[in-house]
Amino acid sequence: MDIKPILMEIRPIFPTPIAIIPNCITSEERLQLIEVINNIPHNPHDAISGDGLSTHKQAPNLLNISIKKRIQTALDEYNTGCGYKLSKLGNIWSNIQNSGSKLLEHVHPPSLVSGALYINVGEECKLYFHNPNPYVYYTVCSDTTPYTFEYNWIPVHNCELILFPSWLKHGKNDYINKMDGRMVVSFNSYTKHTFADI
Ligand SMILES: [Fe+2]
Repeated sequence: MDIKPILMEIRPIFPTPIAIIPNCITSEERLQLIEVINNIPHNPHDAISGDGLSTHKQAPNLLNISIKKRIQTALDEYNTGCGYKLSKLGNIWSNIQNSGSKLLEHVHPPSLVSGALYINVGEECKLYFHNPNPYVYYTVCSDTTPYTFEYNWIPVHNCELILFPSWLKHGKNDYINKMDGRMVVSFNSYTKHTFADI
């Protein structure tokens, strides 16, 4: 006798929101930002190993009002869509990575929502995220699915904005960047209350 498969729906009830906004900046703005970033002194950063530098501690004035407003609008839409309290764009910095460098695994306390604006990336560039469910590391798995993977990645593209919860671990300790001049503008956002302390 044939055993019929059970009609079953498996529902992911605790998803993690990652926002992807293509073409947040124009190609012209991208080229202008490359020029601006190349002319700012960069320094070593704990989240980058190997040949890579950052303006993380310097908080340079990288973005014009128009781009900041676009990012704030995206943050507002993300927070509202997720049911989070609104957060205000805070510190902004640039990272430049050359071939052989790594973006190490890290989180962004005490920020609420963080983002990355991709200024110069190649076809192979990715952003790795790690599963925030601690039990996934205990689960005995037979396959890789959204319920079992310890990490996952998304491809990233020039001019694209990615938003994610600041508590979500990202980067990968063993993923080696293969291009020179990989350039990303990163930022944090805060409630008005926490923003006063930054
Ligand atoms: Fe980061």
